[in-house]
Amino acid sequence: RLKVVVIGGGSSYTPELVEGLIKRRHELPIKDLYLVDIESGREKLEIVGALAKRMVEKAGADIRIHLTMDRAEAIRDADFVTTQLRVGQLEARGRDERIPLKYNRIGQETTGAGGFAKALRTIPVILDICKEMEQLAPDAYLLNFTNPAGIVTEAALKYSKIRTIGLCNLPIGIKMQIGEFYGVEASRVDIEMIGINHLNWTTRILIDGVDVSESFLDKAAGAKGLTMKNISDLEWDGQFLQSLGALPCSYHRYFYMKDAMLAEQLEDLETQGTRADVVKQVEAELFELYKDPNLAIKPPQLEQRGGAYYSEVAVNLMTSIYNNKKDIQTVNVRNNGIIPFLPDEVSVEVNSIIDADGAHPIQLGKQVGPEIRGLLQLVKAYEELTVEAAVHGDLKAALQALTIHPLVGDAEIAQSILNDILEQNREYLPQF
Ligand code: G6P
Ligand code: MN
Repeated sequence: RLKVVVIGGGSSYTPELVEGLIKRRHELPIKDLYLVDIESGREKLEIVGALAKRMVEKAGADIRIHLTMDRAEAIRDADFVTTQLRVGQLEARGRDERIPLKYNRIGQETTGAGGFAKALRTIPVILDICKEMEQLAPDAYLLNFTNPAGIVTEAALKYSKIRTIGLCNLPIGIKMQIGEFYGVEASRVDIEMIGINHLNWTTRILIDGVDVSESFLDKAAGAKGLTMKNISDLEWDGQFLQSLGALPCSYHRYFYMKDAMLAEQLEDLETQGTRADVVKQVEAELFELYKDPNLAIKPPQLEQRGGAYYSEVAVNLMTSIYNNKKDIQTVNVRNNGIIPFLPDEVSVEVNSIIDADGAHPIQLGKQVGPEIRGLLQLVKAYEELTVEAAVHGDLKAALQALTIHPLVGDAEIAQSILNDILEQNREYLPQF
């Protein structure tokens, strides 16, 4: 039976993962679940851990839950290590979101300059975890949820030997949104995506195996509900969708509706603060609920978070690896030529066959034109530079990364943003 380790186990999202592991325990026999956190997260870990224990007990599941600050001990002989940590916690997220707004640029935790800052803080920690795994659990899989997931995963793929797969709930979220749109179960929906994490296009949609891509784009114009919970539900324009020939993901609004999104963020800043401020409130409420000794299920309020259903993604992946299922899931893997106009060694988020050896990206059924290629190459180049900046403390790469990013796009502003990021994150940036 399996040993699974969750780094950042004190997260408010953990009950969601525990629920998924309980539901699927007959396919995925877990003996030990280690929830790992750092000293400053002890209180949260204890609250969430106690809830996890109640959930397991109530369900009669034979899973032993361990709470620990000893990351290396937890990692030793693990089968799966999942990472859902947040370096600097929500305080740091709030700073990431606010710095760009000061310069009239989008302030978002994974996209644009905010995501860049998060990558600088996170990559050194993930590479430390990889090193520990190389020593203590070299055959384990690293399933990385930590954002910016595509960039962090790319750093692990390039700079460690550990088998790493990057995960996000957005692809499953799109399936669910399309299912709801048609009034059918998400399991009847198949999609093909091309792109990278938080920037991927759905190029084909099949319902019960029938291709509905074209008619869907007609109907999607002006529709509500085609977004994740953390992103404003601005509707897509019909002519725009037709000219693109694909369904953009939620995060594309920051690129294709930049001005409207920025205006909304600046307005929210005055009234409710940034998303980090909103999430702080939700978290405080969640932890109050979690403390209730009678609570032994995942509270439905958790589904208000953008990461809802991430547990399904994690559990689906572990189950398919463990059972050598060979089914198709959309995950972050090494490109290896699947997207022909991107380098082989970068991470891409595409449909992959999942078997006991991991995730193998599959050939795209549909190639794309310059409208998608151009933006994708540019943002991927930004990501490559960000990985170099984060791993080596390379200031030149950092400045170029921010300057070429379409949501910054100005050398002087990029330099100012970079200075602010370095100054406000000093304690988390050993590489600089
Ligand atoms: C989406 C993304 C996640 C991200 C989350 C933020 O679901 O896929 O990667 O962490 O949104 O949600 P939050 O509720 O924290 O704003
Ligand atoms: Mn995500």
